Amino acid sequence: MDTIIVKISEDNIDKKAIATAGEIIRSGGLVAFPTETVYGLGGDALNERAAEKIYKAKGRPSDNPLIAHISNREMLKPLVKSIPKNAEKLMDAFWPGPLTMIFEKSDIVPKGTTGGLDTVAVRFPNHPVAQRLIEAAGTSIAAPSANLSGKPSPTLGEHVVEDLNGRIDMIIDSGMVGMGLESTIIDVTVDPPMILRPGFITYEMAKGVVGEIGIDQAILSKPKEGFKPKAPGMKYRHYAPAADFSIYKGDAKKVAARIVELANDKADKGFKTGIITADQHLKLYQEKLSEEIEVVSLGDLNKPETIANHLFKSLRDFDKDGVEFIFGEAFSQDNIGWAIMNRLTKAAGYNIIDV
Ligand code: TXA
Ligand code: MG
Repeated sequence: MDTIIVKISEDNIDKKAIATAGEIIRSGGLVAFPTETVYGLGGDALNERAAEKIYKAKGRPSDNPLIAHISNREMLKPLVKSIPKNAEKLMDAFWPGPLTMIFEKSDIVPKGTTGGLDTVAVRFPNHPVAQRLIEAAGTSIAAPSANLSGKPSPTLGEHVVEDLNGRIDMIIDSGMVGMGLESTIIDVTVDPPMILRPGFITYEMAKGVVGEIGIDQAILSKPKEGFKPKAPGMKYRHYAPAADFSIYKGDAKKVAARIVELANDKADKGFKTGIITADQHLKLYQEKLSEEIEVVSLGDLNKPETIANHLFKSLRDFDKDGVEFIFGEAFSQDNIGWAIMNRLTKAAGYNIIDV
């Protein structure tokens, strides 16, 4: 399949290109598009055939449900059985934005979109290109992250092209996304609501709005054999680089010393080796490290949003460079640090070592 690739700037949206993209969605095709979190792979949320195509293009298991994206709050009503009070409060506070909520689904939402579940995930993204596309399509758009299943989520148009060129109808490239981690997911079918995936809307922010909030066990630790997380996607090894990735936790100097020792050992044996750190700790790696080791700072520890923004890109870059071993520092779990460590922990296959 020939994939149409267009660049659309957020500030000056190409109306013709958006109209074409909307027409593709309406007629059952697939369009990858930017959101403020990560790029999404979109199809008509009410068309079961489109959902099938999404699973096929991503190579994703079809029991892993999709998020329906809307461009105004009115679009929510027909998709759900009811809108609980807590959902109203969360919407007032965080929509449009990086928050997905789980509702009881209405009959018009096909089970193909919801991975066979009776619930549906809905998000109102805060990205002008995503909003214009949903308006042009005239329907809600089912969209998982626009990566091949198992790969890190795409934060740049190039990432989508790498994974999906030739597999879908159109890719809209609007450059680097603003956030770089997927939305917070909150199940509002239960009271108190429950966080199923951490993101930029933090535990504290959500709690501030609804008072009490639960946390799905799958976020906190490695799911036990046979355990079913409420967000089916959380059970898959995700965001994973090809390399063997391990994370070291503890006092920064001790962690760096341990990482230097381990990385040198691998490099001496001829393996391509990488290190993940932060701006403030780069100096800890300046000495005693083999030259060929790739040291990457994800960003500024005082601005965790910079770390979130570079996380998936860095994992993809290590893959491109053929890196075989990655040694990473653990970051603070505070606020969006929780989402950062959730993604890193999964990328490392829960391989976290206390130093
Ligand atoms: O930021 C985002 O949420 C991005 C952008 C494109 O909007 N989308 C995204 O989609 O991350 P995806 O498919 O990669 O992740 C969706 C997650 C999966 O873990 C899935 O299992 C969960 O949401 N999910 C979807 N529908 C659900 C439902 N009805 N009940 C529980 N979990 C659900
Ligand atoms: Mg995903």
